[in-house]
Amino acid sequence: MKDFAGKVAFITGGASGAGFGQAQIFSEAGMKVVIADVRDDHMEKAAQHFKDKDAQVHFIKLDVMDKDGWAKAADETERVFGTPDLLIQTAGVNNFGPIEASTFEDFDWVIGVNFLGVAYGLITWVPRMIKAGKGGHITTTVSLAAFTAGGTYGASKAGILVLMEGYYSALKAYGIEVSAMIPANINSNINDAMTKSRPEHLKNTGFNATPEVGEFMYNIMQTHGMDPRELALRMKKGIEDGVFLIVPYPSGAKIFAERQERWALYSTPEGMKELEERFKRPQTEEQRKLEFETEGYNRDMSANMEKFLEVGVGMALKDRDWVLENKRLK
Ligand code: NAI
Repeated sequence: MKDFAGKVAFITGGASGAGFGQAQIFSEAGMKVVIADVRDDHMEKAAQHFKDKDAQVHFIKLDVMDKDGWAKAADETERVFGTPDLLIQTAGVNNFGPIEASTFEDFDWVIGVNFLGVAYGLITWVPRMIKAGKGGHITTTVSLAAFTAGGTYGASKAGILVLMEGYYSALKAYGIEVSAMIPANINSNINDAMTKSRPEHLKNTGFNATPEVGEFMYNIMQTHGMDPRELALRMKKGIEDGVFLIVPYPSGAKIFAERQERWALYSTPEGMKELEERFKRPQTEEQRKLEFETEGYNRDMSANMEKFLEVGVGMALKDRDWVLENKRLK
C-alpha cells in the first residue's frame, strides 16, 4: 500500500503509546482513523490532541477480548467511515514476574489481549475487507519478545507472529497485504497496564504487579524507548515497502539471526553445551551495540539491582512457596 490519503484506518490500542503514534502519523497522511481502545482516560487524552486538528478521527470503546464488542465496533466503523483499508492491531498488555508463579488469570489476560484479541480482530475484519473488494493492508504490533525465551507475554507475541505469517500467505489472493512490526523498547504507558487495564475478574496474579513496579519500570526503562511517532513512521515505510517483517532498527536482520541461531543450538547435545557456555560469558561489544539499538540502553542492570529488589520488580508474591525464595517478595 503506497497511498493513504482518503482511506480508512482502524487502530486497536490507538489511544496511547505505539498506537497513538500510529493514529497521528496515519491521520497526518490524510486517513480517516478509528481509534479503538479500552481505556477512557487514554481516549480522552488522545481526543484532546486531535480536537483542534483538521483530522477525521472517531473513537470507539472496545475491549479486544470482547467478541460481541468487535461486531459492534465493525458495524459502527462501516457506518461512520466505511470498511478499513488499513487494519492495525496494536492493543497489548504485559505483566512481569517469574513464569512459574503464573496463574490461570495471568494467562487468560495476556494471551487474551495479545493473541486472542488480535485473532478476534482478524476474524471480524478479514471477511468484511474481502467483501469490500478494495484490497488493503493488515498489520500488527508484535514485539522482539516473540524471539526471546519469555513468559506469557513472549508466548502471546510468538503466537501472533506465526498467525500473521499464515494470513500473509492466505490473503495474497485477495490483494490484501499483511505485515508484522517487531519493536523492542517503546516510550509508552504499557507498565501501568497491569494495574489499570487489567479487568477485575482477571486480577488474580502470581506476580508483584503494583503501581510502584509500573512506575519504576517506566522511569528506568521506558524513558529510553523509541518515540511512538518515529516508530509509526517506520511502520508506514514498511507498509509502503511491502515487507512482511517491519523491523524498526538498522541491524534488524542481524538481531534476528542471533535469536534464530539459538533454536538450532537447542536441537543437538553439542548445541546445548554451547548455549550453557554462552549464558556464562559476558556480553560482547557487538551484542552491547545491538542491545543499545533496540532498547535504548544497556540492560546490564547490576547498578540498579538493589533498587529492583527493593521495589520487587519481576518478583513472585510471598505465598508462592514453590517458587525459589530469591524470586519471592520478602
Ligand atoms: P500502551 O499501554 O501505551 O498502549 C496500549 C494501548 O492498548 C492502551 O491505550 C491500552 O488502553 C490499550 N489496551 C490495553 N488492553 C486493551 C484491551 N483489552 N482492549 C483494547 N485496548 C486495550 O502500551 P504500548 O507499549 O504502546 O503497547 C502497544 C503495543 O506495543 C503492545 O502490543 C505491546 O505489546 C507492543 N510492544 C511494546 C513494547 C514496549 O516497550 N512498550 C515493546 C514491544 C512491543
